[in-house]
Amino acid sequence: MNKTVDLTMKLGSLVLKNPVMPASGTFDARDTILNKNQLNSLGAVVTKSVSLGKRTGNPGPRIWETDCGMLNAVGIPSKGFEEFKEKELPLLKEINDTIIVSMVGNSNEDFCNLADRLNKIEEISALEVNLSCPNLNDQLHFGINKGLMAELISNIKKHSRKMVIAKLSPNVSDITEMALAAEQAGADILTIANTLVGMAVDIEKQKPRLGNRVGGLSGPAIRPIVVRMIWETREEVKIPIIGVGGITCAEDAIEMFLAGADAIQIGSANFNNPYIMLEVIQGIENYLVRKNYKSIQDIIGLVQ
Ligand SMILES: Cc1cc2nc3c(=O)[nH]c(=O)nc-3n(C[C@H](O)[C@H](O)[C@H](O)COP(=O)(O)O)c2cc1C
Repeated sequence: MNKTVDLTMKLGSLVLKNPVMPASGTFDARDTILNKNQLNSLGAVVTKSVSLGKRTGNPGPRIWETDCGMLNAVGIPSKGFEEFKEKELPLLKEINDTIIVSMVGNSNEDFCNLADRLNKIEEISALEVNLSCPNLNDQLHFGINKGLMAELISNIKKHSRKMVIAKLSPNVSDITEMALAAEQAGADILTIANTLVGMAVDIEKQKPRLGNRVGGLSGPAIRPIVVRMIWETREEVKIPIIGVGGITCAEDAIEMFLAGADAIQIGSANFNNPYIMLEVIQGIENYLVRKNYKSIQDIIGLVQ
């Protein structure tokens, strides 16, 4: 690596060796072909969303490939906190010193109980709150209901001494309203964004392609939407933004930095190329050298 370029990124008090990490649900420490050195060269590792107890997920089919991306309706299956702690966490500790745990729950209580447990684990740096799930108490969706989302973030903050990252849903008419509400509720960082709700139909069977009927669209198809959301949000909030959606190469990542993201996550592209995150880190560095920048910080939000 060329030491003349500084890829270090500070997200508040969270210091990353570089701004590239996997997106939740698309990386599994127990099932990766990357070796320990390669895993350690990522800016952070991010877990699949962990719930307090077991979750079964949705009926199949769970995945449908689209022209420029994929629809998934996995339904956030999780073996629960205890199994995460016993089986996954020890591996995570070995592969990277910045561990971000994605959390999912069905109610404020669920999330807060989980936050209490995660709090006790020293090696966890931050909690990423997956807001793209319904609150089963009132059947409203955390991610698209500003009040519910703000209440949840503020409750988790009261229960956590870790950094709290609000992972916003893009399925709203004004992302800046949600971003501001999350910031005011105490979120330390934003992740923009989760998947966009979509649907595909099998015209021979005349049935939805997915067992859950609708699913989350990810991949290159959503990138321009996410870039626009990051750019709009950068103007409105002071907290750092992690951009995620459709990144398949370093150029895509750089687009997000220029629009205002402080760090990026790579999701669906990991399924096509398990080395993509490493290639993106190298590509960002090459770009900075070619453009004569000293640091990744120099290009954040350059596009007005
Ligand atoms: C198969 C699959 C599983 C996912 N699981 C989760 C999850 O457990 N928690 C979460 O917050 N996001 C989850 N996501 C969303 C990704 O983290 C990411 O926000 C989204 O896919 C957009 O990024 P991409 O276009 O790079 O894939 C999942 C996405 C996919 C494709």
